[in-house]
Amino acid sequence: MLIRTAKASDILSSEITPHSVFLRRRQCLRAAAFTFAAIGIGPYSLACRAEAEQKLSGIVKTKWNEARLSGEELTSYDDVTSYNNFYEFGTSKSDPKRNAGGLQTKPWSVVVDGHVENPGTYDFEDIIKRHKLEERVYRFRCVEAWSMVVPWIGVPLANIIRRMGPTGNAKYVAFETLVDESQMPGVRQKVLDWPYREGLRMDEAMNPLTLMAVGLYGKEMPNQNGAPLRLIVPWKYGFKSIKSIVRITFVDKQPMTSWNMSSGREYGFYSNVNPSVDHPRWSQAKERRLGGSTNVFGFIPKQPTLMFNGYKEEVAGMYAGMDLREFY
Ligand code: MTE
Repeated sequence: MLIRTAKASDILSSEITPHSVFLRRRQCLRAAAFTFAAIGIGPYSLACRAEAEQKLSGIVKTKWNEARLSGEELTSYDDVTSYNNFYEFGTSKSDPKRNAGGLQTKPWSVVVDGHVENPGTYDFEDIIKRHKLEERVYRFRCVEAWSMVVPWIGVPLANIIRRMGPTGNAKYVAFETLVDESQMPGVRQKVLDWPYREGLRMDEAMNPLTLMAVGLYGKEMPNQNGAPLRLIVPWKYGFKSIKSIVRITFVDKQPMTSWNMSSGREYGFYSNVNPSVDHPRWSQAKERRLGGSTNVFGFIPKQPTLMFNGYKEEVAGMYAGMDLREFY
């Protein structure tokens, strides 16, 4: 496997994600605050619009992805950023793009706690800046049977975790999203028990495929896609890929997760993409590619869903001997 995973200790300061990008963000924030005060409209909408499109640089491209996905077209930037699930901003697919523009992501801090040697409240920059950013083109499949192919930008979660130093008692990692009624209109509705929670077993979190993503298409992560940092776990249904993370906790027991709490029969802890285990209300055997080519009837035809979303070679070993119907 050719995925490049640099050891944190290998990284020279000259290779670190350009700090200038983050400094510009802060200037943008100050400018936005001024704009907001002066004319009383959403801060992100004016001063930061150009900044939201800020290109990231210094990204390591991984050839591996291109070879594995040959023949599969990338889903357009427009589709990836306008058809979203982010219930904190509303439950319809167009709500996140419409409502997430004002989310203040700069500065952003993340609490790291539980069974870990370096607990604390970290600035987003401190978590990310010591690592090389990589571009990973992954298939991404939602439990609702639509899928995409997205060039994410991020850092392997394993590299970040190694720096945090989990102790021997850390068997799982739990994640939480920001919950802030003033910025997230969706959390006024109790559609889920906020904050949005997700979790991974330690070996899943350390798998080289698991990405802490900070952007897509070479640009900073749009708010509706989970700025400033979100997980991407490409062999699991999309809901495991938690957005706008503010807390990472190392725990010794399997953590509760939002969808499991909401409907345990429908959404298990593992939630591996598995065409042979149906959701109680719909089949998981096929999927529709977002923005894919339409047939003569004007429909995007469904295509077969692959076991572990096509990442069997990399991840199947972690579930050897487990009954994936029981541990769905
Ligand atoms: N994270 C949070 N905090 N809130 C959410 O509602 N939705 C999940 C996941 N992460 C969700 C979330 C679901 S159901 C999916 S399919 C993916 O985000 C969608 O990611 P995308 O909008 O970037 O395609």
